[in-house]
Amino acid sequence: MQILSDISELRTVLRTLRATDDRPTPRSVGFVPTMGALHDGHRSLVRAARQHCGIVVASIFVNPRQFAPHEDFSRYPRTLAEDCQMLEAEGVDVVFTPTAEAMYPPGAAAFVDVEEVSDRLDGASRPGHFRGVATVVAKLFHIVQPELAFFGQKDAAQVAVLRKMVRDLDFPLEIIVCPTVREPDGLAMSSRNRYLSTEERRQALSLSRALQAAQMQAASGEHRASALLQTMRATLQEGPSARVDYVAVVDPDTLLPLDDVASGALLAVASYVGSTRLIDNALLASTTGNTVVPGKKKS
Ligand code: PAF
Repeated sequence: MQILSDISELRTVLRTLRATDDRPTPRSVGFVPTMGALHDGHRSLVRAARQHCGIVVASIFVNPRQFAPHEDFSRYPRTLAEDCQMLEAEGVDVVFTPTAEAMYPPGAAAFVDVEEVSDRLDGASRPGHFRGVATVVAKLFHIVQPELAFFGQKDAAQVAVLRKMVRDLDFPLEIIVCPTVREPDGLAMSSRNRYLSTEERRQALSLSRALQAAQMQAASGEHRASALLQTMRATLQEGPSARVDYVAVVDPDTLLPLDDVASGALLAVASYVGSTRLIDNALLASTTGNTVVPGKKKS
């Protein structure tokens, strides 16, 4: 596995790998962008990439442009040595670890704005966040030029923003979304789970419980979004140190609120447990045959 931080060196290495790739996989380069502090959720993305692609590239870059000044950029966990060990064990070919100066040289002033969808869910709570995400991912896509790029369903709003970016700007690649990976007790894996104390870790289960409760309610015939929202909010508020950021029942593509979930919906929650902001979500299937499938046209 090669670990490279220089953009032009990476391009040269990838050109050579592409020219010599003779593995019998349908697509050449699969790309897994990350901010490091890797866990089994990232591992599942790498495994999916390994399965589909002859060459697997992962990036590790804690992107300053997607953090607001009061957020956790400086304390975000940085575990490069362990991350590289895991990526090597999973058969990654190249790890790209650029510096902030290489990604944003002095005077860099171009941004990618995916309007409207970037202002919803996490974008509403974290103004400018998705502008930073779309900009860095667009840059990484230009640098790596993958055929497939892999993201986790856990970041459902990020997926909606990046899918729209890829569609609207005609990036020649496909985004593959892999299921959220959970701890045995249901907590969605996240690099930020490391911030939780033992007691907060227990309370953090309120997110997956809120989603489960709403999913069960929907499965037993409730299709009013208002009822599901009430259930999720009540469950989230059970933890003494919980502070709900949002609960939402939305279309997974547009992130616009739905009144009725009969055609499918994205249930999404964000809550602070102590000072740590956690997110989670679940997709509800259609009960009418009219499915809302993220990234696909509705039937
Ligand atoms: O999901 C993440 O880890 C980040 O938002 C991403 C896509 C690597 C961009 O910095």
